[in-house]
Amino acid sequence: MKEHDAYSWRNAWFRRSVVSLVVLTLASFLVGFVWLPSVHSDFTAQGLWASICQAAGVPSSWSSPGSQGNPAAQQSTHVVLERSMARAGASDAVGRGATLALNCTMCHGAQGISVANAPNLAGQYPEVVIKQLKDYKSDKRQNATMQALARNLSERDIEDLAAYYASLPKARTAPTTYDEKLPALVRVGDPMRNIAPCISCHGGVDQKLGTPWLEGMPHDYLVAQLQAFKDATRRNDSQAQMRSMVRAMTQAEIQEVAAFYARKVGTGEKH
Ligand code: HEC
Ligand code: HEC
Repeated sequence: MKEHDAYSWRNAWFRRSVVSLVVLTLASFLVGFVWLPSVHSDFTAQGLWASICQAAGVPSSWSSPGSQGNPAAQQSTHVVLERSMARAGASDAVGRGATLALNCTMCHGAQGISVANAPNLAGQYPEVVIKQLKDYKSDKRQNATMQALARNLSERDIEDLAAYYASLPKARTAPTTYDEKLPALVRVGDPMRNIAPCISCHGGVDQKLGTPWLEGMPHDYLVAQLQAFKDATRRNDSQAQMRSMVRAMTQAEIQEVAAFYARKVGTGEKH
């Protein structure tokens, strides 16, 4: 046999090794891109191509609408946040909002501080109140009471309510700082699990537009919301930013950060 025949198709050994390589490659493709993803809870069975793109790290927004790889990442709010929403309303807006808010005191408290495990609204950023009310109104965030109430609110009502609540003193006026003892997730997050520090969005270091003020919120409300993001029963966070972080958190961590933000110490004003 001439030496170059070793790499020729006529050589049985060469033929066999090529065939087994092809078979092995196909088998590992099937396992890696079809079988393994299909046993994941968030598998959406959009075919081989989507799985390959997902495995290769292609952002789901590159694929055509409706073929997004991860159901938890679905576009989940119609509200486009604008800086103007964060501006305080005119003084007549606050007065009108105060009148409208008489329908809300039963649960959210006379001064916007809840004693019923509903969220505090006092001092909440106006764009947060606007976004959340619009999400309830368009059924993007689910809560039977709030959806029913929001349905009857006009754009103007929503803006005026937001202006009114922004004008009330917060449950805790001081944001979290690095000077106190912080849970690790609040201070530094966990890069290995893609959890950004809470303090980088929720105030303290930075407040990202549309991110709620959490300081002094009722403990049970915080736990319920984190759990709802984890179960994806709450899906109105754009780009699934809360969902993807909380999914990686343990129950103990949820309890820990909720207890931290609900803490009553500090310079908070009393209602
Ligand atoms: C019967 C009790 C009740 C009444 C009345 C009520 N709310 Fe609520 N509200 C709740 C509860 C409970 C939640 C949290 C629901 C959830 O889990 O999504 C909530 C959530 C909200 C939120 C979201 C806050 C956040 O931090 O995400 C806003 C804004 C809000 N309500 C505004 C209002 C306004 C304005 C009114 C009056 C027009 C009102 N609510 C009346 C119980 C109530
Ligand atoms: C990348 C920015 C970002 C980081 C980091 C972040 N959040 Fe959020 N969080 C948001 C945004 C934005 C919302 C509002 C989502 C929406 O529009 O409904 C939110 C909502 C929440 C809510 C619901 C509050 C309410 O009243 O509706 C809770 C609770 C919460 N975050 C807790 C946390 C905790 C605890 C951490 C740290 C482990 C954290 N978040 C980290 C951006 C962030």
